[in-house]
Amino acid sequence: MKILAISGSMRSESTNTNLLTEISHLSSEYMKIDIFNSHDQIPIFSPDQEGENTPDSVLSLCEKVANSDGIIISSPEYIRSIPGGLKNTIDWLVSRDEVIKKPITLIHASHRGSDVLESLRRVLATISENFSKDIFLQIPLIGKSKDEIKEIVNSEKNKLAVNGFIFEFSNFIKSIKVINRE
Ligand SMILES: Cc1cc2nc3c(=O)[nH]c(=O)nc-3n(C[C@H](O)[C@H](O)[C@H](O)COP(=O)(O)O)c2cc1C
Repeated sequence: MKILAISGSMRSESTNTNLLTEISHLSSEYMKIDIFNSHDQIPIFSPDQEGENTPDSVLSLCEKVANSDGIIISSPEYIRSIPGGLKNTIDWLVSRDEVIKKPITLIHASHRGSDVLESLRRVLATISENFSKDIFLQIPLIGKSKDEIKEIVNSEKNKLAVNGFIFEFSNFIKSIKVINRE
């Protein structure tokens, strides 16, 4: 199963990206997780740039979306909302076909940030018929280093939580495939 994991943070020591990296290691037996956080490569969205004018970097992202069985998003909250880079990336996907039936779910790397979760849930339920708000993983990691994140995510309790999340998300993806007879 191929998963596209989108981090909302471009920070080199991002807790969201580091969490997704650890999850990709823990789930490698069941899923190949490809992480995307190059929001700076995606031009500011304009409907004038859609269709035959679509930039190559956007086409490349859309190909990743099309080739994935599902999408996981993990994002920080910026000013009680979705970081601009991530929102801009999502804006490009909305009028295209790739994302409409895609299973999508959220991971959260913070003990706070309920506003970004609420916004993302509303946005993702709008762009995909198969956004699951019930399949959700939260591991608070604000301020933690890469090494600390590795240790925290690999604790017995969190490994169980990650495995449960991966199990639920892969079953959800399989059930969607059956419905769509892929
Ligand atoms: C510009 C900016 C705005 C932020 N606004 C909020 C906020 O509204 N609520 C919040 O809980 N944290 C806020 N934070 C803190 C980040 O969400 C937090 O540091 C998070 O761990 C960053 O994610 P990262 O480690 O993946 O880069 C903000 C950080 C920045 C840089």
